[in-house]
Amino acid sequence: PAIFVITPTYARLVQKAELTRLSQTFLHVPQLHWIVVEDSPHKTPLVTDLLVKSGLTYTHLHMPTTKDHKLQEGDPSWLKPRGVEQRNEGLRWLREDRRAQPGGDNQQGVVYFADDDNTYSLQIFEEMRSTQRVSVWPVGLVGGMKYERPVVEGGKVVRFHTGWRPTRPFPIDMAGFAVSLKLVLANPDACFDREAPIGFLESSFLKGLVTMDELEPKADNCSKVLVWHTRTEKPKMKQEEAMRSQGLGSDPAVEV
Ligand code: UGA
Ligand code: MN
Repeated sequence: PAIFVITPTYARLVQKAELTRLSQTFLHVPQLHWIVVEDSPHKTPLVTDLLVKSGLTYTHLHMPTTKDHKLQEGDPSWLKPRGVEQRNEGLRWLREDRRAQPGGDNQQGVVYFADDDNTYSLQIFEEMRSTQRVSVWPVGLVGGMKYERPVVEGGKVVRFHTGWRPTRPFPIDMAGFAVSLKLVLANPDACFDREAPIGFLESSFLKGLVTMDELEPKADNCSKVLVWHTRTEKPKMKQEEAMRSQGLGSDPAVEV
């Protein structure tokens, strides 16, 4: 089955670097359809051009986060959930597009939400390819821990190894699960709730789709870390600003 990867992305200094790294990982994955959703009122030339040159099968969408839900300069990053409207727009497109294909709602495929800054091993895509309903696996470097993971006993997920609010319905990072396309199509209202309290975004989507005992553990019964919640440092522009004030700033025509 094909893997539909939904990636929210927004303009910032490291965006092209992140998307370059991600696209070059995806080039190694057979049958991957990349759904890139820009957090922007329009499609930007930077992302448009990168996708055209990527060599990937892709769909380019955009959906701005409404102002009252967008992080403002100086807000701590955890204050508001990020990428919500974009993932929902990706789901909307997928449902509409797949319905129009032969086979309608009965289609093979897997849906995965891949943030633009994480690090993905190629093996995680082969693990998720056999997803029947919802598959799960560990995520490295997340939640203030070396890893978080579902705990598997007798082939079933019985609880979660997480340091924070283990009582959440699904204490799993966005990078730690995939959903079958059939389940997404069979539940047309399942989406991410932008009003979800901190840490409950993943649960807001999953709770309408599965129960804990239906989760399908991957990555050797959730014993292997194959995806990492890496975060890229914001580059400092101190010299850039000093140079600019002397009239020697970098050429704005050079895309970074
Ligand atoms: C953690 C989770 O790993 C995310 O999946 C979850 O969306 C987020 O928390 C949350 O609580 O909302 P974190 O690394 O803190 O992730 O978030 P980011 O990587 O900064 O953002 C997640 C995605 O949304 C990225 O693909 C990013 O490009 C996108 N994003 C971020 C936007 O589209 N717009 C923004 O204003 C910010
Ligand atoms: Mn991130």
